[in-house]
Amino acid sequence: MKLTVVGGGSTYTPELIDGFARLRDTLPIEELVLVDPAADRLELVGGLARRIFARQGHPGRIVTTADLDAGVDGADAVLLQLRVGGQAARQQDETWPLGCGCVGQETTGAGGLAKALRTVPVVLDIADRVRRANPRAWIIDFTNPVGIVTRALLRAGHRAVGLCNVAIGFQRRFAGLLDVTPSEIHLDHVGLNHLTWETAVRLGGPEGEDVLPALLTGHGDAIAADLHLPRPLLDRLGVVPSYYLRYYYAHDEVVRELRTKPSRASEVARMEQQLLEMYGDPALDEKPALLARRGGAYYSEAAVDLAAALLTGSGSPYQVVNTYNDGTLPFLPDDAVIEVQAAVGPKGATPLPVTPVDPLYAGLTANVTAYEDLALDAALRGGRDRVFRALLAHPLIGQHAYAETLTDELLAHNREHLAWA
Ligand code: G6P
Ligand code: MN
Repeated sequence: MKLTVVGGGSTYTPELIDGFARLRDTLPIEELVLVDPAADRLELVGGLARRIFARQGHPGRIVTTADLDAGVDGADAVLLQLRVGGQAARQQDETWPLGCGCVGQETTGAGGLAKALRTVPVVLDIADRVRRANPRAWIIDFTNPVGIVTRALLRAGHRAVGLCNVAIGFQRRFAGLLDVTPSEIHLDHVGLNHLTWETAVRLGGPEGEDVLPALLTGHGDAIAADLHLPRPLLDRLGVVPSYYLRYYYAHDEVVRELRTKPSRASEVARMEQQLLEMYGDPALDEKPALLARRGGAYYSEAAVDLAAALLTGSGSPYQVVNTYNDGTLPFLPDDAVIEVQAAVGPKGATPLPVTPVDPLYAGLTANVTAYEDLALDAALRGGRDRVFRALLAHPLIGQHAYAETLTDELLAHNREHLAWA
């Protein structure tokens, strides 16, 4: 089995390698290719990756290359984890929206739109090249904004599934609180990528007993603290929103905080420097603890599970993924990309039926789906007016004067990445 990671020079890669090494029985990789245009990073990350495999006795071969076409040739699955413009572009996304009193975040709001516009054309080009190399290859997309990028891939007819670590993070957290193993926890997870709610926490599987009410009663304070949301709000909702919902439910509070503290991009840039220094140490042969301070902690488990299900039919039968709605949420178009539990196997992902969604969540989900549709249109066809329409449609923007200003800001900060601007 051959797997290729595009964006393999990412400081996140050792997380993935650690998962591949630990879970090698689930996913028997013979060749792992790390593709990245940044030769210096690739050398550091590739070196550590080989040492992790060696330490854990993984027999697989690790190849590094800047040549995408060679790297994806013959791959059974290709993982996309790239960031167009790097942390510098993220720093911009997190900053200029604050000028309008709007959240500055890499996947939510105006910053998320900027990221989508930069990213969709690049990912589609990569996916075309993957398909030319091997039409049967699966594309696993971690590249944000995952909902919009996955929709772009599926619309272009690619064999793609979008993945995020939010659900697996909750699964582990709840398992810890309930003192059970993570695989015993089945989440009723509903919404769009980075806009989801856990509406039930079941023991044993999709038909298992729902212990969410007891979880909230017993551990509501801990969960509220994780999310930086008030406990009484969780009690009133009776569901657990993902931490990305804080950008909606506590928008103005978040904006005030963001205005006073260093950006996440600058924190991450500093961590990346430290990580790269560590990776250069020939004595290091495991993922450093510092990596756990990145938001993507444990995404390797989700990646291994999904790749195993798609490639070999092993792995967990149900997994939270991003895929076509196809009637699952009746208030959304069939070709919307939703993030829900799905049955996953060699034929792909099929969402499990979802219990009717409270209008409190369905309304926001529909609104953001419309935004994502307009965002994808802007990413594919360009033009100031399409950018404006997407911003006007976003529930965290909505006002025409803000949408005008943010359109100008987005274009001014992203010209070098947008062929049409
Ligand atoms: C979570 C999200 C990812 C996102 C990451 C950011 O894991 O699910 O989609 O990329 O956080 O983490 P960072 O450490 O870069 O802020
Ligand atoms: Mn994510």
